[in-house]
Amino acid sequence: MKEITITTKFSSFDTLQELPTDIQAIMEQAVAIRKTAYAPYSKFRVGAAILLDNGKVVLGSNQENAAYPSGLCAERVAIFQAGAIYPDAKIVKMAITAASDTNTTASPIPPCGACRQSIAEYEFKQEQPIEIYFMGEIGVVYKSDSLKNLLPLLFDKNFL
Ligand code: THU
Repeated sequence: MKEITITTKFSSFDTLQELPTDIQAIMEQAVAIRKTAYAPYSKFRVGAAILLDNGKVVLGSNQENAAYPSGLCAERVAIFQAGAIYPDAKIVKMAITAASDTNTTASPIPPCGACRQSIAEYEFKQEQPIEIYFMGEIGVVYKSDSLKNLLPLLFDKNFL
């Protein structure tokens, strides 16, 4: 038997204002698009903003459905839209924010497992890491230099 330990790394910022202005700008766009979430069931609104290497910003918010699994998270709405509209652009940075209609979300909200897997696909496709920033409604912002920090032992095309 051999134990395997995997370490991962994040940076934590006490406030958004500690981050560079380009990150503040995309996080503010994520906050704005969060308000368009269609979340009548969970009352949990998520916004995502993706900065591409062509300077464009692509946005997404979560879209729910009465048949619950048919809805989609904000991160995947945004990243699939980026892939569809700008298939040759590289994703440089991604900002994610979440807020509940019923309480204040004060801790960083990480992307769900399915969104991590979807983001991973684009890192492999573009052969370049994606910086990911995530926060709640207020407070601390976490930064990851790559999706890989968020998904140890991830499944990718090399296994196929
Ligand atoms: N949600 C996201 O948009 N992104 C995530 O990474 C986690 C969850 C959405 C899905 C659903 O509409 C609501 O938040 C509650 O799970």
